[in-house]
Amino acid sequence: MDLIIAKDYSDLSRRASRIIASEIKKKPDLVLGLATGSTPLGTYQELVRLYREEGLDFSRVVTFNLDEYYGISMDNPQSYHYYMFENFFKHVNIKPENIHIPDGMAGDVEAHCKKYDEEIAKYGGIDLQLLGIGQNGHIGFNEPGDELLTATHLTNLTQNTIEANSRFFKSMDEVPKQAITMGLGTIIQAKKIVLLASGKNKAEIMAELLDENAVSTKNPASFLLLHKDVTVIIDEEAAMLYS
Ligand code: F6R
Repeated sequence: MDLIIAKDYSDLSRRASRIIASEIKKKPDLVLGLATGSTPLGTYQELVRLYREEGLDFSRVVTFNLDEYYGISMDNPQSYHYYMFENFFKHVNIKPENIHIPDGMAGDVEAHCKKYDEEIAKYGGIDLQLLGIGQNGHIGFNEPGDELLTATHLTNLTQNTIEANSRFFKSMDEVPKQAITMGLGTIIQAKKIVLLASGKNKAEIMAELLDENAVSTKNPASFLLLHKDVTVIIDEEAAMLYS
């Protein structure tokens, strides 16, 4: 694991966007795995700036998002579809047909998840996966538990995640209780992974992750220790408990 301690959130976002931009320049048809949530917002803003000011070209880039709430339609402002278009896709020259996000309204979820993994495989797998991390160690929505699933699947969100995500909703009751997420296998097969963590509320989990030398289903992010090309970028606040 390569560890970069960024000065602050802006620095973290700039560094993450530079890595993504450099991979796109090396491989213009990069298959890019994307995350939502608060953490990558600055990275998306930086990528939009690079597109506008430096002509970073997304016309051949293919994207696969990690997850989507289940039971929420694409046009719902709480959906990850909506988030991605508002914060990133509609500001760059990515082709709509190159964008993939699990469908939170899929009728046959199992078939939908299977097709999602097949689609990723059709593009030769994910070249670069961007990840955030939950305070409980989840990546995507692979929550801590007795077992972790490898493929894309429907999952129940833990109380911790529901509480953490309630900040985006009017009340806790409105937070979806389920999501479709890429599995640990899909994530770990990405050729390169960049994990971002920002702020004091990620300090504990980052200290645990960085000091760990064992993998456990109780901390899904610990499986990243098995990957040979992971760059972790954290800001000073998220690094404050790491020695
Ligand atoms: C979102 C995702 C989640 C988030 C994590 C951290 O697509 O996969 O694993 O990355 O919940 O969320 P924030 O960045 O809001 O703290």
